[in-house]
Amino acid sequence: MAKPKSLCLFSFSLILLISSCAAVYPVVDDLRVARSSFPSLQAKKLIRELNLFPKEDVNVVDEGRISFPEGSKLVEKRFKFPDVEGLGGVSVEDLGHHAGYYKLPNSHDARMFYFFFESRNSKKDPVVIWLTGGPGCSSELALFYENGPFTIADNMSLVWNEFGWDKASNLLYVDQPIGTGFSYSSDRRDIRHNEDEVSNDLYDFLQAFFAEHPEFANNDFYITGESYAGHYIPAFAARVHRGNKAKDGILINLKGFAIGNGLTDPAVQYKAYPDYALDMGLIKESDYKLINKIVPICEFAIKLCGTDGTISCTASYFVCNAIFSGILARAGDINYYDIRKKCVGSLCYDFSNMETFLNKKSVRDALGVGNIDFVSCSPTVYQAMLVDWMRNLEVGIPALLEDGIKLLIYAGEYDLICNWLGNSRWVHAMEWSGQKEFVASPEVPFVVDGSEAGVLKTHGPLGFLKVHDAGHMVPMDQPKAALEMLKRWMNGSLAEGGSSEKLFAEM
Ligand SMILES: *[C@@H]1O[C@H](CO)[C@@H](O)[C@H](O)[C@H]1NC(C)=O
Ligand SMILES: *[C@@H]1O[C@H](CO)[C@@H](O)[C@H](O)[C@H]1NC(C)=O
Repeated sequence: MAKPKSLCLFSFSLILLISSCAAVYPVVDDLRVARSSFPSLQAKKLIRELNLFPKEDVNVVDEGRISFPEGSKLVEKRFKFPDVEGLGGVSVEDLGHHAGYYKLPNSHDARMFYFFFESRNSKKDPVVIWLTGGPGCSSELALFYENGPFTIADNMSLVWNEFGWDKASNLLYVDQPIGTGFSYSSDRRDIRHNEDEVSNDLYDFLQAFFAEHPEFANNDFYITGESYAGHYIPAFAARVHRGNKAKDGILINLKGFAIGNGLTDPAVQYKAYPDYALDMGLIKESDYKLINKIVPICEFAIKLCGTDGTISCTASYFVCNAIFSGILARAGDINYYDIRKKCVGSLCYDFSNMETFLNKKSVRDALGVGNIDFVSCSPTVYQAMLVDWMRNLEVGIPALLEDGIKLLIYAGEYDLICNWLGNSRWVHAMEWSGQKEFVASPEVPFVVDGSEAGVLKTHGPLGFLKVHDAGHMVPMDQPKAALEMLKRWMNGSLAEGGSSEKLFAEM
């Protein structure tokens, strides 16, 4: 096998390169050489493994395509997807499904696309926003494969999802950062590079959304998402909280934020890769020792990136990802989103039905997206966010916890790329007033339908849940448990673990 060898060389030469440089800046310079090619390959590989083939690299178009009525910043329509099984005589009004575009104020010409599904249960249910990661992948991935109202059958009809999160919430999916999904701009300068830009856009959108839907503005509000959204979510939650404190615009009733298999504190999480890989039998002890040599260099590189670096952050991305690619080179053709699975060909998953569906004329007409292409995952957006990748987003979280805003970190146990171990470690290491109690609190089973669906640890506003029999995409692998988790977390009963026996014993 030639591949592992060359990758081994790659990581090894990085070690030599870095350890032989006394000063740091020459290292950065050397790494800049590789900058142009590698990340785009990485992004394209990611996208291909999902069996997605977006026609465009990014949604940057010649001119504004969606027309907005004079003076309005948001256009929205109620829609009904064609070909929904078992919809019967339900009208567009009955469904409460909306799709819209929002003109971003702090942009040259950016339009953000969103879906809004009113709760199938009650309009009084919390409003929940979902953000998919990538960076640069459309939230429609989650809509159709994880927790949306429908799933796509192979014959392109939609089938109701019994465990859609719209069964317990008024559910929003946003395509962001700009250039992703159906969101677009006619100006390249609107491509985003950091969490300030991302969180301001999301905050502006929320303000416009609640102005459009004042009847939902007093509902509880929760931010959720996955993977690279481990970066977006803490930044967005902090932005909302700051806006509320400054009494900017509409008060947003932020109650909590939840991150599923996220990347939040890279220094801790990259260090956990070799440990997780060894524990799960993906690598041998000798490989572990070799790969672990990159860890201190990675930690050092991340320190240089800090919380506001730029080129040093891109450099640390390369250094640290040698850990990850070193593991993959030795682990064979595993699916790094779910190590129980093999990547068949270059495909780890097949999400191609989503692209086919969203490019159907009848669907596009229903959504009112005009002639905007659907960019399932954007390599350009991915690359533009590389300077943000190694930033530590844990730093803003304690202030939110102290103000009683809930945080749930959950992780499917078989995901490698944002594995539970790294997440558990940063959650435990986080300094806040309840840290000691959180660390000391017992693990309790998370019971769904009488069987253990995960292991849970909570104290005050903080919860950590390791989900059994799931990979990176928990609501896809364990839809019922994921919906239960959401319901109990939102209504404050998650800490009870769902085990009546346990409750009894404590009383
Ligand atoms: C399409 O597939 C779904 C799910 O397998 C099935 O329920 C439905 O009857 C099929 N529809 C048509 C038109 O074949
Ligand atoms: C919270 O939600 C769960 C799941 O729907 C339910 O079983 C439980 O009774 C609810 N608890 C409270 C306190 O409302």
